[in-house]
Amino acid sequence: MKNIIITGANRGIGLELTKLFAQDCIVYALCRGDFPQDALNDHIKVIKIDITDEAAVAKFAAELDAAQVAIDLLINNAGMAGGDDNLMVKVDVSSATQVFVTNVVAPMSVSLHVTNALKRADKPAMIAISSRMGTHALLNDYNAEWWPYSASKAALGMAVSAFAINEPTVQSISVHPGWVKTRMGGDDAALEPAESARDIKNLYERIDELESGSMYNHDGKVMDW
Ligand SMILES: NC(=O)c1ccc[n+]([C@@H]2O[C@H](COP(=O)([O-])OP(=O)(O)OC[C@H]3O[C@@H](n4cnc5c(N)ncnc54)[C@H](OP(=O)(O)O)[C@@H]3O)[C@@H](O)[C@H]2O)c1
Repeated sequence: MKNIIITGANRGIGLELTKLFAQDCIVYALCRGDFPQDALNDHIKVIKIDITDEAAVAKFAAELDAAQVAIDLLINNAGMAGGDDNLMVKVDVSSATQVFVTNVVAPMSVSLHVTNALKRADKPAMIAISSRMGTHALLNDYNAEWWPYSASKAALGMAVSAFAINEPTVQSISVHPGWVKTRMGGDDAALEPAESARDIKNLYERIDELESGSMYNHDGKVMDW
């Protein structure tokens, strides 16, 4: 059975990914708060971690290494929009910094710390949940207003491309999950979290055919970024 790590596993897209992958994999469900009890099963290992806490991430990775666990897939899903997730961020350096730490530095910290565990798998992969808001190709007034989020996802795309070069045995992609009905996406969004999770799992199932370091839409089309 494959071993998967999913960050931000307690709600939104991460929770649906966790439920879906746990049907046939062991999921290390990383969350900083409580995981919903009604979604728990024997395939889900809840690990309480704030991904910006590097010491906690390193400890988790060391435990994987000590037990010689092979991780087949890391999904860097956890992310934030800025402020209290409902506020437009214009000039707020502290909030913008937190967005960059959460959306770029922390996912790469998790990736780097679990690289040894990934390399123990036959065909390891890393998927970073990015956003179309982080593409130059789709830059508009709305994305510009939310510049810390947009710029952080653009930086995440570059970091994933760099990780793909630095770790050529780990198939690594960025994915736009769609506009999804979550706390971040809001009630008017186009997709249910379960639909987005299904699409992301479908992408993973053909990850060998995809170009490592590139960005894909949830529907499988390569994105111009
Ligand atoms: N929804 C959309 O339309 C949409 C579109 C494009 C991209 N995305 C991306 O999709 C991903 C998932 O977002 P979502 O829509 O599911 O949002 P969400 O419902 O707001 O969930 C965000 C998740 O990230 C976790 N998280 C944030 N900071 C964390 C930290 N420091 N440590 C650990 N966990 C942390 C949250 O945990 P807490 O519960 O503890 O806060 C929560 O589980 C994000 O990367 C987001 O940027 C979403």
